[in-house]
Amino acid sequence: SKKELQVAIDGPASAGKSTVAKKIARRFAYIYCDTGAMYRTVTLKAMQTGVALDDAQALAKMLAKTDITFKPGDPEQLVFLDGQEVTMAIRQPDVTNNVSTVAAQGTVRADLTERQRVIADAGGIVMDGRDIGTSVLPHAEVKIFLVASVEERAQRRFKDNAEKGIHTPIDVLRDEIETRDHKDSTRAISPLTQAADAVRLDTTSLSIDEVVDKISVIIEQKRQEFE
Ligand code: CDP
Ligand code: CDP
Repeated sequence: SKKELQVAIDGPASAGKSTVAKKIARRFAYIYCDTGAMYRTVTLKAMQTGVALDDAQALAKMLAKTDITFKPGDPEQLVFLDGQEVTMAIRQPDVTNNVSTVAAQGTVRADLTERQRVIADAGGIVMDGRDIGTSVLPHAEVKIFLVASVEERAQRRFKDNAEKGIHTPIDVLRDEIETRDHKDSTRAISPLTQAADAVRLDTTSLSIDEVVDKISVIIEQKRQEFE
């Protein structure tokens, strides 16, 4: 029988990680774990409850009493915070612009990394984020580092926003993406960086299906190695 693999997909904001990861998970009947949604959910709770976003100890205390769960949904997987659905709420611009501060706190990273490893233990998994190949699943058989030009990524975010009725100008989005990528790449603990054994894929001029096909070929090759 074919081995159930760990597939780690990392990269900067709006490179297409979650869109592609979901499709890969469906194709191979693997579990999909959106680790960015977990950092967003923690950020939302801190904002709602008045916990300072850079107070590592207060965030740790909050996390000890925080339940984050994913439930299958179509087309989106649903996210629940302490039993309340927050799928849309965690995508709001104020959460997006604060999440990197919370994600830089070591206490938060340690807690969520632990939860992510528990999810991955259940079987074949596609996990997307910033530090999956380097830190969360360092032994993942398949590691992909997705990139695209910042222009293209700002345009993708602009289109996604327009569908949600959000009309932030494209140059503001570009600045926000660059600021977040800079924070994520320069933090002390498990920063965004390409794992030495990751395959780098530039998606700037590729369609979603082209990206999914390229990654699927890599996964199929790996599976055959284990046959
Ligand atoms: O979808 P988008 O690119 O906007 O971001 P996301 O994947 O939802 O992640 C939101 C933020 O969470 C990132 O900008 C990081 O600050 C943080 N994050 C992280 O630090 N480590 C991860 N494994 C995933 C996300
Ligand atoms: O998870 P991440 O922030 O990396 O990106 P995303 O939330 O999947 O958003 C990427 C957006 O770009 C989505 O609207 C996709 O439809 C679009 N897109 C893509 O993901 N891949 C391409 N090759 C082209 C467009």
